[in-house]
Amino acid sequence: MIASLTIGQSYLTLFQPKPPRFVLYEGPRGTAKTRGILTGLMCYALKNPGARIILSRSTRTRLTETVLTTLEEQVYPAFGMRVPGDAGRVNRHSYDLPNGSSFIPIGLDDPQRTTSMEAAKIYVSEGIEIGMRQHVEALAGALRQPGMPDRQCIIDTNPGPPGHWLNAAAEPVPKHWRRVESPEDYQRLLEHAHRPPQEGFWKRIVTRHQDNPGYFDLTAWQWTDAGREYLDTLQMFTGHLRRRWLDGDWVAAEGTVFPEFDEDRHVIEPFNVPADWPTYVGWDAGFDHPTAILWFTVAPTGCIYVYDEIYRGGRAVSDHCRHVHEKNAGRTVHAYYADPQHCFSQTAQSPKTIASQAKECGISMSPWPRTGGNEETMVERVREKLRQPSMFKVFRTCQNTINEFQSWSYKRDARGDLPAGEDKFEDRDNHSMDVVKGVISMNIQHKRQLIRAVGAA
Ligand SMILES: Nc1ncnc2c1ncn2[C@@H]1O[C@H](COP(=O)(O)OP(=O)(O)O)[C@@H](O)[C@H]1O
Ligand SMILES: [Mg+2]
Repeated sequence: MIASLTIGQSYLTLFQPKPPRFVLYEGPRGTAKTRGILTGLMCYALKNPGARIILSRSTRTRLTETVLTTLEEQVYPAFGMRVPGDAGRVNRHSYDLPNGSSFIPIGLDDPQRTTSMEAAKIYVSEGIEIGMRQHVEALAGALRQPGMPDRQCIIDTNPGPPGHWLNAAAEPVPKHWRRVESPEDYQRLLEHAHRPPQEGFWKRIVTRHQDNPGYFDLTAWQWTDAGREYLDTLQMFTGHLRRRWLDGDWVAAEGTVFPEFDEDRHVIEPFNVPADWPTYVGWDAGFDHPTAILWFTVAPTGCIYVYDEIYRGGRAVSDHCRHVHEKNAGRTVHAYYADPQHCFSQTAQSPKTIASQAKECGISMSPWPRTGGNEETMVERVREKLRQPSMFKVFRTCQNTINEFQSWSYKRDARGDLPAGEDKFEDRDNHSMDVVKGVISMNIQHKRQLIRAVGAA
């Protein structure tokens, strides 16, 4: 049987003979990312018998509601094929094709998820929902199915805050390329899509509504009726969601705790920190959440620099300590400051506090002030620094810290209003921010005198 398929031109890159290992397809909602990518993967599965293709998203529930729904309701029918078996999509472990190829759905929250599997292709949907690059890289460890012509991890996403790790992982493109008003503008994106990625980056492919044959008629260069109807449904969005979902721009959220933070003024290119400037290391411990460890220094002018970071979950304290010691070579550490609750109290899992485990590795932590009743004051002290951009800078390499400055938000109630009371800050995107608050509240200074903290290397 010959199926006739329509697919947006940006997705023709899915058929390149030697595709880049990691490719990010970004774009506003409705540019046919999910359907386009699944169509490409279905062609691959049919062409390469026995191919295993992992379909993934942050949670299994979200995967089922979006990717698997599109696969079953749009892609199988477009190929004139029937969804195999009668298992509902909620519990399905695989979709098997007659030639031995299969699609394997995995939620990143799935406790049974396995990377012992060998796969040829991985599709990670809505990468913006994934907190750490390492989660995607760990999954990509499965890309070792032998006998396949190529192995590739495809990620798609709606844009989010500009400092998000995913935006940093993919090659940069000029911002104005995302404004597509003429066939020439669109052509420029297509030419970019087919070039190899910039060295050291993931390939970035910018998709637009012109890539959705259901919504845009390229020959007539106008929206289809379905496209116009779809645009109407997006009109209700305002502010940053509109910029991300309708325009496809990477912009910071509104309602962040630090609206003063400005990438143009507070982020700088890294330089070599003189060895005799004091370093202060701040530590917010996490296992399921990332552990955030930040290096601060203070210049003779009093300007504070955040110049290095570790941002990683799932690791033992001793592993972090080893990594910290490595990074400290050539640095003069005056003190280690840590979260007073998490690092200095016992937990059910471990009778030894994190501070005492670190001490065994030669790192002596002091607590920063407790936030209880005090958080607003600590936030205000960071704001004061931010209001004088010559006094507070972050190295561009500290991507996770930049991202949290652009993301950490106030809680909103269902009406979008700020609720009153203590607990007004969102409890996410706040790992580096806890460290920044804690270390700034220690009032760190430029001291040339080498009063080394006990145990500091
Ligand atoms: N090739 C196509 N032909 C017809 N309609 C399409 C096609 N691709 C996408 N669409 C329509 O556009 C909608 C949005 O596509 P989807 O892949 O979910 O976009 P995204 O993942 O970019 O948000 C689909 O539900 C479908 O109605
Ligand atoms: Mg989608």
